[in-house]
Amino acid sequence: MEKVKIGLLGFGTVGQGVWKTVRMNRDDLIHNAGLDVEISKILVRDMGKDREINPDSSFLTTNPLDIIEDESIQIVVELVGGIEEAKDFLEKAIEKGKHVVTANKALLALHGKELTEKAEKRGVQLRYEASVAGGIPILHAIRESLSANRIEKIMGIVNGTTNYILTRMSREGISFDEALKEAQNKGYAEADPTADVDGFDAAHKLTILASLGFKSGVDFEQVYCEGIRRMTPTDIEYAKELGFAVKLLAIGTEREGKLELRVHPTFIDEDHPLAAVNDAFNAVFIEGNAVGELMFYGKGAGDMPTASAVLGDIINVSRNQHHPNPQAYRLDFPKNRKHIMSMEETQTGYYIRFMVKDSPGVLGEIASTFGKNGVSLSSVIQKGEGEESVPLVFITHKTRESAVQKTIRQIQKFDAVTEVANLIRVEALS
Ligand code: NAP
Ligand code: HSE
Repeated sequence: MEKVKIGLLGFGTVGQGVWKTVRMNRDDLIHNAGLDVEISKILVRDMGKDREINPDSSFLTTNPLDIIEDESIQIVVELVGGIEEAKDFLEKAIEKGKHVVTANKALLALHGKELTEKAEKRGVQLRYEASVAGGIPILHAIRESLSANRIEKIMGIVNGTTNYILTRMSREGISFDEALKEAQNKGYAEADPTADVDGFDAAHKLTILASLGFKSGVDFEQVYCEGIRRMTPTDIEYAKELGFAVKLLAIGTEREGKLELRVHPTFIDEDHPLAAVNDAFNAVFIEGNAVGELMFYGKGAGDMPTASAVLGDIINVSRNQHHPNPQAYRLDFPKNRKHIMSMEETQTGYYIRFMVKDSPGVLGEIASTFGKNGVSLSSVIQKGEGEESVPLVFITHKTRESAVQKTIRQIQKFDAVTEVANLIRVEALS
């Protein structure tokens, strides 16, 4: 049995989860992995803070070098969050020849390429399973178990906060603001919920998933990102009527060597397995050219699920310590950078809700404008009669984004059209 000494940078939700899991499952770690994991030192900002777990003060330090320069520590685990300091800590640990584990998706989406390259050059391992979908072992599956496949599609619910909000809006008919407040009271959403509700957190995760899955360098800025703030109970009611569930999806597709990468609220067929993923749960749906369709489901956040992924990485790194394979988790593929399509080039179905004056000929005029731009319609719903402004809803077949945007620009100018109330992309089962 091998003893592995680790240093934790950060002792918040995930850091304490790692502490609890090591204590709760020590015998299992020894039995299953042949490893006795020992937490040697913990970096915090505030030594006097009262936490759920309060280790003896001899474990704590406010100086990162006490961990990074400690010769006896083999693996440094970064759980401080944020970008600049976390990056600095990881770079210093790599320079010192330490293996490193992180759960920091924002850092990896922005600087994963250089960090994995640095680790590779220094001959150390960098692992980051917990950065995408928390406890779900999706990166290991893509990198190892599915490596005999060409992955054609990755479609995920990878943000628990927004999935909780959309589930509550859908079940209770409440507004986005009410559902967000509930999510904050439950501790899912942070006081500043921007990263979650505006889709950046999901886009960070898609950057990582797509780099590994499609074996191509992906820049975070190339991922189209739209959040859920514009979602209304009215649109959710239409979704149900039309046989769809509404989800914030992170979608990556490879078509003829080109990548489509987008995060946005999506109407998804109610029979699709992702439609049944509710509350704060995450799921990732994959299509591989050998394996076919797969779905991974579980908790994408929380102290223990995230710690499960962090400890999985620690075990993996320890097992490979004497024969490291630093290339295994690289996020850059300089010789294989696939073209990433602009949003205008992408193709999907669309739900478009106009508000119009209810007068004869309006529906025909709008429908013929879609036709003139080569956009084929699959459904139309008009409700209300004689009111000042009534909703007029169109669902299109799969079509190019540029054609839909051009059509909307033309329709917007009609006197009878008072508002383009919403546009939501549609993933229908083919
Ligand atoms: P957190 O609860 O805010 O904890 C952060 C910890 O880092 C705290 O212990 C804090 O010290 C310490 N810290 C921050 N900056 C520091 C600095 N400059 N010097 C020393 N200590 C510093 O964060 P978390 O929720 O555990 O998340 C950690 C990472 O995991 C993030 O990258 C996050 O995105 C990722 N992640 C989290 C979850 C989740 O469910 N929470 C899931 C997946 C991934 P004090 O305690 O003294 O304030
Ligand atoms: N804020 C993230 C979520 C945490 O809601 O899913 C896990 O990365």
